[in-house]
Amino acid sequence: MIQGMAMTETAYSVQKLRKIYGEGEAAVHALRGVDLDIPKGEFVVLLGPSGSGKSTLLNILGGLDRGTDGDVRFMQHDLAAMSDAELTRYRRDHVGFVFQFYNLMPSLTARENVELVTEIASDPMDPDEALDLVGLDHRSDHFPAQMSGGEQQRVAIARAIAKRPTVLFCDEPTGALDSTTGRAVLRVLKDVNERLGSTVLVVTHAASQAAMADRVVHFADGDVREVIVNETKSTPDEIEW
Ligand SMILES: Nc1ncnc2c1ncn2[C@@H]1O[C@H](COP(=O)(O)OP(=O)(O)OP(=O)(O)O)[C@@H](O)[C@H]1O
Ligand SMILES: [Mg+2]
Repeated sequence: MIQGMAMTETAYSVQKLRKIYGEGEAAVHALRGVDLDIPKGEFVVLLGPSGSGKSTLLNILGGLDRGTDGDVRFMQHDLAAMSDAELTRYRRDHVGFVFQFYNLMPSLTARENVELVTEIASDPMDPDEALDLVGLDHRSDHFPAQMSGGEQQRVAIARAIAKRPTVLFCDEPTGALDSTTGRAVLRVLKDVNERLGSTVLVVTHAASQAAMADRVVHFADGDVREVIVNETKSTPDEIEW
């Protein structure tokens, strides 16, 4: 059902998106009428204070949740109008997720964790190819507990990219990492953006990481405050920590 992807240059077009959790006195207005365009193939960094609605927006764009009202389009397809089954298929075919705390299966090796995805994807990479892309081909038979935080995060990235996602969403991917491993993870994300052509959206608290983005979205109080397009960009190795 998702066709004509090469015809358009906008990955996401969001208009007047609102998200209200709960009802009445307890209602939380997490998104207050967000308008945002995300061009295809860009590396986008989303910055903002805790509680400002960043994860809420990511989850709606990634088809894990739905807005309360407003318009969300992926390549001109209306996510709000999709049935649950269509949303699941959209996620499976197009979306990769990376979270702060890796979410690997502890009883499975690195390769087996990646295979969880490649077994259901339509045009997956070989699991070893995905692990090679994140520089971990030599660790494919190791279990998560035998790996450092940065290595576990790179396995999580390998798992997310093995389906060759159109879009890669990362929610605080370096939040639990030191500068050296954090930079290694940023290099991998930039590499995925350049080599696979995936649109990459990274939520972070680290304002310095904005320097490597094509586009920086500043979020506050459930809405976009400012969008900055970087004329010049830093490499992941130049990012201050
Ligand atoms: N499932 C939920 N039920 C009720 N309120 C929620 C739920 N999820 C998020 N919220 C609220 O919505 C608002 C936005 O939350 P969100 O997680 O999107 O913020 P965030 O910008 O990602 O914050 P952080 O940087 O701390 O991760 C917050 O006030 C939060 O408490
Ligand atoms: Mg969050």
